Amino acid sequence: MALHRPPKPLLLVAAATGALLTGLLTGTGAAQAATSQACDIYAAGGTPCVAAHSTTRALYGSYTGSLYQVRRASDNATANIAPLSAGGVANAAAQDSFCAGTSCVITVIYDQSGRGNNLTQAPPGGFNGPAAGGYDNLANATAAPVTVGGHKAYGVFVAPGTGYRNNNTNGIATGDQPEGMYAIFDGTHYNGGCCFDYGNAERNSRDNGNGTMEAIYFGNIKVWGYGTGNGPWIMADLENGLFSGVNAGYNANDPSISHRFLTAVIKGEPNHWSIRGGNAQSGSLSTFYNGARPNVSGYNPMKKEGAIILGIGGDNSVGAAGTFYEGVMTSGYPSDATENSVQASVVAAGYSTSGSGTPGPAVGSTISLRATTACCTTRYISHSGATVSTQVVSSSSSATAKANASWIVRAGLGNGSCVSFESKNTAGSYLRHQNYQLYLHANDGSSLFAQDATFCPQAGQNGQGNSFMSNNYSSRYIRHYNNNVYIASNGGSNAFDSSTSYADDVSWVVTAPWTP
Ligand code: AHR
Ligand code: AHR
Repeated sequence: MALHRPPKPLLLVAAATGALLTGLLTGTGAAQAATSQACDIYAAGGTPCVAAHSTTRALYGSYTGSLYQVRRASDNATANIAPLSAGGVANAAAQDSFCAGTSCVITVIYDQSGRGNNLTQAPPGGFNGPAAGGYDNLANATAAPVTVGGHKAYGVFVAPGTGYRNNNTNGIATGDQPEGMYAIFDGTHYNGGCCFDYGNAERNSRDNGNGTMEAIYFGNIKVWGYGTGNGPWIMADLENGLFSGVNAGYNANDPSISHRFLTAVIKGEPNHWSIRGGNAQSGSLSTFYNGARPNVSGYNPMKKEGAIILGIGGDNSVGAAGTFYEGVMTSGYPSDATENSVQASVVAAGYSTSGSGTPGPAVGSTISLRATTACCTTRYISHSGATVSTQVVSSSSSATAKANASWIVRAGLGNGSCVSFESKNTAGSYLRHQNYQLYLHANDGSSLFAQDATFCPQAGQNGQGNSFMSNNYSSRYIRHYNNNVYIASNGGSNAFDSSTSYADDVSWVVTAPWTP
């Protein structure tokens, strides 16, 4: 695949001489440095980034190259998205205008380190992904809106089946070589599938045995390791094991941690590794493990292979969910002090959810959802028992018809950044999809139900109201078709995926409830 390689950042050149680098960082040299960003801090600490990935912002103060590439569905054209200024936040407006009236996926997450370690659609490995040829899905480019320093930006939304990888890297640690990693995730978006990872993995996308990976893991799968509480936890994926400390299974010092913006750190060197974490919006990092390699054979010495994965396990296990905003891998074992400075710079960058787009309906409110297609502007999402359809509702409708079209907005059962819709007149029952059709079912407490009943509000695709993305099928949105209600993709293989009037059919106006 031909990839555009972004220009080398100035500081990589500067890093060749320590004196020049020091001059840049202190502003005493000929060139006045921009704000010192994460990779400038790692370089100053003697552990430079060898991969730096972010769809939200530059991770070097001087970086002006492309951050990521999007591809739009209407004509398969691609566009690169760069920072607004050197060292700045992504130009999300450029994405919005390129993707207007169609949908976009993230095709490339460029490596800002200058080493060309870009992440692209992950190929099949020990497991196949759901896309053509066994590849993994690409992320919906508008699924994870945030602001950074007041500027709109988009993260990488990993629904199960989504994955990025680079099996042909340059400069990433192999064998028992030291490395460090940090990543910023949405701490409210996770699941118990294997494995939402960012970091070092096998170059052949297969399970090559204990110690052939070293990646940050985030989620609540308990198959291999876990900490206190019910999760989610930051753990190290070292292959055939997610480790929360020195022991396989339980380690008491690894807490459940779910900040909306979460800083997660894993680093490793010969017979030594560490787990750290904190709130990416405030405060400092805590250390949850710092000690010897696990007391299980195969992890000392390590046999790292140096590929890079995002959103999947080393063998291309594709069951996991999560959201990634930025992350880096270093050469050398970073000091805690260096990481603490990186954390301070992340906090200063100012991640936030406010102002990130058209707000969805307020959690706790009761609403109705009106169709916007010209045929159907008096129709609302309604249920009759388990059956869900759009129905004409008016002030003269029966009390039952009104209540059937009224919904209580709940925090998303499967993703705290999204919402679920509980029936006004059938407490404990929620809109959920099954075989891509919407039903009203009682919450059975399962992880699948939680995922199927969670929808992420975005701006309406026809410019009216909201569109609601399925949390676990992120190319699909709530859509009416022949007055039935589905999760539909634009131009997919089902009749209800028809491109005709798609943008109108997936756009819903949130109204006052027929039954308050
Ligand atoms: O170590 C946990 C997972 O086990 C790895 O990510 C995957 O390669 C294997 O299935
Ligand atoms: O609606 C698509 C899938 O169909 C749902 O996730 C699952 O409940 C059913 O198998």
